[in-house]
Amino acid sequence: GPRVALLLVYIKSILLHPLKSILRTSMFSLALAIAAAGDRSLWSLADRTAVVTGGSKGLGRAIVEELLDHGCTVLTCARDVSPLADLLSREAGGRCIAIEADVSTASGRALLVSEVEARFGARGLDVLVNNVGTNLRKASVDYTDDEYEMLHATNQASAFHLSRGCHSALKRARGCVVSVSSVSGSSNDATGAVYHMTKAALEHMTRYLACEWGPDGIRVNAVAPWFIRTPLTAPLLAQEPFHDAVRRATPLRRVGEPCEVASTVAFLAMRAAGYITGQVVGIDGGMMQEGFRYVG
Ligand SMILES: NC(=O)c1ccc[n+]([C@@H]2O[C@H](COP(=O)([O-])OP(=O)(O)OC[C@H]3O[C@@H](n4cnc5c(N)ncnc54)[C@H](OP(=O)(O)O)[C@@H]3O)[C@@H](O)[C@H]2O)c1
Repeated sequence: GPRVALLLVYIKSILLHPLKSILRTSMFSLALAIAAAGDRSLWSLADRTAVVTGGSKGLGRAIVEELLDHGCTVLTCARDVSPLADLLSREAGGRCIAIEADVSTASGRALLVSEVEARFGARGLDVLVNNVGTNLRKASVDYTDDEYEMLHATNQASAFHLSRGCHSALKRARGCVVSVSSVSGSSNDATGAVYHMTKAALEHMTRYLACEWGPDGIRVNAVAPWFIRTPLTAPLLAQEPFHDAVRRATPLRRVGEPCEVASTVAFLAMRAAGYITGQVVGIDGGMMQEGFRYVG
């Protein structure tokens, strides 16, 4: 009778509802996959706008060059931009802009943010790379208040205040932030407590802002390199017993190269990484996976 008919309708709706939604989801994924297959623009940064802090040397310089190679217009800064003279003359078309700004100070950051607004204006900012950072290798009891403040201002406050200063420009472009942390953000390599504290803060800022700014379409990620050959690490790597210890702690048995960090930053900035946010990507030759090893 009618009750059996009702029951049948009910069973059918239970059975079909999840089926329909599964079907809808897989059709949607299929459509996305078809649209994405062969879409080279996923892997391009052509005509994007980027800011890279500390682009005159080391990792920052490699990131600037990588983003330029992928077609970005890059605004960078350092306290002394003279080492960038060769790059600026090569990029005579104006795709590379360098200003002198100390991002550990409010005035330096304000200068950079006003330059972002002036240069990228209504277009907005696609990529902000918080790269600036430094270290003072010493025991915790030997830190002065000023040294603590300098590391905090350079490594941590710079990234937070610049990110919030660029928020509206990032929102206009539905852009992304990539901060340069370190393996020190989540492990102990005995190179100074304050460096480790600031990098841990940078990583948590990454997770927090990813959630806060996700609804604005802004992705927020970080990279965590181990030893990379730059002017910052050159004096340490020049000491062969130290360099050897670094190699032994690294499954790939070598230090990293700046281009290996730059390529990961570029990937995170691309639409190819469009669903990645709140992540800290290790670039460490496997060092963070290495446990105890007895070499008899
Ligand atoms: N190299 C590594 O093995 C390694 C490993 C893990 C993480 N990292 C991280 O990677 C980032 C870059 O390191 P790096 O080795 O490339 O360092 P680097 O060789 O010392 O280069 C630092 C760059 O930042 C600029 N800079 C420093 N302080 C600044 C400030 N207050 N305002 C504006 N610019 C400033 C420097 O130019 P000026 O001096 O002219 O300002 C330079 O262009 C840092 O955050 C570091 O902690 C490096």
